[in-house]
Amino acid sequence: MNAKILLLPGDGIGPEVTAEARRLIEAVAEIHGLSFDIDEDLIGGAALDATGEPLPKETLAKCREADAVILGAVGGPQWDDPDAKKRPEQGLLNLRKELGLFANLRPVRLHPSLAHISPLKAEKIQNVDLMVVRELTGGSYFGKKELDADSASDEYRYSREEIERVVRLAADMARSRYGRVTMIDKANVLATSRLWRKVSAEVMKKSYPDVAYETMLVDAAAMHIVANPSRFNVIVTENMFGDILTDEASVLVGSMGMLPSASLGTGKAGLFEPIHGSAPDIAGRRLANPFGMLGSVGMMFEYSLGMREIARQIELAIWNAVSAGQCTLDIGGNLRTDEAANAVIERLGEIHTKKVAFI
Ligand code: NAD
Ligand code: IPM
Ligand code: MN
Repeated sequence: MNAKILLLPGDGIGPEVTAEARRLIEAVAEIHGLSFDIDEDLIGGAALDATGEPLPKETLAKCREADAVILGAVGGPQWDDPDAKKRPEQGLLNLRKELGLFANLRPVRLHPSLAHISPLKAEKIQNVDLMVVRELTGGSYFGKKELDADSASDEYRYSREEIERVVRLAADMARSRYGRVTMIDKANVLATSRLWRKVSAEVMKKSYPDVAYETMLVDAAAMHIVANPSRFNVIVTENMFGDILTDEASVLVGSMGMLPSASLGTGKAGLFEPIHGSAPDIAGRRLANPFGMLGSVGMMFEYSLGMREIARQIELAIWNAVSAGQCTLDIGGNLRTDEAANAVIERLGEIHTKKVAFI
């Protein structure tokens, strides 16, 4: 049976980069003689406008049926009224929760030819190869929220089980990398962080004595990520800290538009999305960097469809396009979104037919 892939383009540059994801999947299908069932549906502001809901029932039902979901981005200034009862972002948050996607993998790797774009000196970033494992369905994002005219509150809650499963996933990942995990928290202030510290220390000691483990406070971590990023390898952290630290880390390797992500969890479907948002400032102008999205398609082949070799070829095709300077404005190129994606698709064909390796 064909794998079912659901595309959720969303808002702003979401549809622009998702269109390129579709073309890449179709190219993979052609090159490898495979066939996928690709469908598309509404989420975010687009869904809110069309149906009154940021995550319509029909979309959620299709996500549950799918083997993998690809998401562009949600949100934008037209839905930013602080008094609004429903927001586009709720569509994405509810989807993550409903699908049980508790771990969000965000790899951050430097392509050497982008070293000059980084705000850090080349020698500081040359070995950056980071995997941030962000907890995705707990913490302040999902606690009870209250807002009235003069006060507001966000409940911040984590259970032992929520912490343990994501720490295990990060530690397993570290075993196939450099065997090092940094757990980032704010244990000098937050009770939730103190639980993170206790539970992760127990898990690491009991089940992963072979993996080097350290803890770090998030404010210091924000500093170390720019002062000495290559000291990190696998980072595991709670929802909000992971969100913030990965936007920060993306700048080191060139642009927000470069970073892919995979959200995995308890169910069958994974969710694959670039880490960037809907970028209203550049939407509709073919300026968006599609590589974060195309990398997310690669992660889909690896983590949801079990086609590791195709994932590797996609990674290599992106790598080779960047090496050749075939990229968008944000990373120093002059190609438009679709042209940069074409370059990747062409490189993919080359890799397949001529077995071209890294250039
Ligand atoms: P953003 O990530 O959309 O943009 C931040 C900056 O990075 C902008 O200057 C933008 O032009 C640039 N940028 C982002 N992606 C790029 C790409 N692919 N190529 C080139 N440049 C790129 O963050 P924001 O402006 O704070 O948020 C805009 C909206 O997106 C908000 O409504 C926010 O809630 C939403 N958002 C959604 C997601 C998501 O759907 N996963 C993620 C982050 C933000
Ligand atoms: C992300 C985004 C989302 C988040 C928003 C849009 C809810 O910033 O995917 O990184 O904070 O998780
Ligand atoms: Mn974010």
